[in-house]
Order: sequence, then structure tokens, then C-alpha cells
Amino acid sequence: MTGEAIARAAELLDGADSVCVSTGAGMSAESGVPTFRDEDGLWSKFNPEELATPQAFARDPLKVWAWYRHRRQKLAQIEPHAGHKVLADWEQRVDDFVVVTQNVDGLHHRAGSEKVIELHGRLDVVRCTGCDYEIVGLDDLGEDPHCEQCGERLRPGVVWFGEMLPAGALNAAIAAAQHCDVMLVIGTSGVVQPAASLADAAKAYGGAVIEINPNRTPISALADVWLDSGCGAALKAIDAAWGRLES
Ligand code: APR
Repeated sequence: MTGEAIARAAELLDGADSVCVSTGAGMSAESGVPTFRDEDGLWSKFNPEELATPQAFARDPLKVWAWYRHRRQKLAQIEPHAGHKVLADWEQRVDDFVVVTQNVDGLHHRAGSEKVIELHGRLDVVRCTGCDYEIVGLDDLGEDPHCEQCGERLRPGVVWFGEMLPAGALNAAIAAAQHCDVMLVIGTSGVVQPAASLADAAKAYGGAVIEINPNRTPISALADVWLDSGCGAALKAIDAAWGRLES
């Protein structure tokens, strides 16, 4: 991550009336949440076909729920990091500022971000497979929770592979990407659609793209600025450089 890249990112943000941030698992990695596709990521230890699809849940609901129950219990022990807080501060600095996240950990909200579009749902939401009943929070619901309204089995309130994203969230995310002057892409491998196409949409509508990721991704090729760094250090460095521009 060079001083030049940091300065360029700060200049782009300083000149922007509208900013869209797109975050993936790398944004939460520095809070202790494992990513999916890094060498030590979740998909190196678990098979998504057995744990993160509707078919897996239909085949073995107790196994799938046990995995999400464990992830929920871990979530109760983590906190947002400084990078999450920088993004929450920037929401106050830019009139039109929104975070679009693939993450299901709720850390952006906990850091103070209010305008957050969650494409893949939330781990702290559990919903009924038979009616509109849902439970919000991280209370332990036991090993085989059922709906107290209709008796059907409960499931994690996240989007599984092969499922439709919440229509409102997806449309809002695409609109934000097309409208923004700057898209800041943080900590995503850029391989899961439709989130991976948001940077293309921003670019196609004239937005500048800044990427923060220690590794190159398919998005790096179209980025105007690539900061090959962890997100916490990069966000703090950009924040400092931006503050100097404004002083
Ligand atoms: N700071 C910034 N980026 C980081 C950091 C860090 N400290 N640590 C890792 N990364 C980057 C990795 O280089 C990688 O490119 O974060 C990215 C994480 O990629 P994935 O694990 O594929 O996570 P993500 O892109 O969010 O996955 C998208 O796939 O499995 C589904 O639903 C799941 O939402 C998830 C989706």
C-alpha cells in the first residue's frame, strides 16, 4: 500500500457526493470472523454443499442448524474493529453514503453504520420455514428449534447458495452502485454474484473504484486504486489523508 495510493483514494472520496462501500468477509476478518476462501477459510474446512444450501437443510436440518448455531455463538464474542468505525464516521461526512455488505455478522450496524444493505441476510435472525415468524438476537435456541406460531422448523435468516437475494436489498444495492461517484470495495474475493458485479456497475455509470484487499481479485483489474493492505490499516490511513485534505 503506497502513500500515493492512499492519497489518491482520499482525493477521490473528498471529491465524491455519493459513496457506495461494498464489503465482504475480509472486512470482518480483523474482528476474528473467518473468511470463506482464504487458505484457513470456512470453505477449506467445511463443504458449502452440505451446510449452505436449501438442499443441505432439507437433507440434514440438524447438521446445518448445528453449524449456524455454532457461528451464532461465536458472533456473540466478537466486536467491530477500527475499520468498521471509520466507515460509520464517513457516513456522517458524506451525505449520500451507503454500505452494501455480503457479511451476515451485523458488525457494520454495531459499529454505528445506519445505512447498510445486507445482501445475504443476518446470522442474528432466525425465521420459520412455514410462516412469517422470526426471532432476532443471538439467544441459543437449542439444537432443533421450531416455530412457536405454527410448529414448523426454524432456519437461519441468511441467503444460501441457489436462493434469491432479498429483492429490495439487491435493487437498492444496484441503484447505489450505479449512482455513486466512488465505490470502495473492501475484503471480497469478487467471485460470488450478484455482489461481485457491483463494481462493474459503478464503473459503467462513471464511478471510480477503490479496492482494499491484500490479495488481487477480479475487481483489481478495473479498480482505479488498489490498496494491497488489510482493511483496518488502509481505512485508517485513508481517513488520516482525507482529514488532512479537509483541514
Ligand atoms: N482486509 C481486507 N481484505 C481481506 C482481509 C483483511 N484483513 N483478510 C482477507 N481479505 C480478503 C481476502 O483476500 C479475500 O479476497 O477478503 C476476501 C475474502 O473473500 P471470501 O472469503 O471469498 O469472502 P467473500 O468475498 O465475502 O464471499 C462472498 O461467498 O460463501 C459466500 O455467502 C458467502 O458472503 C459470502 C460470499
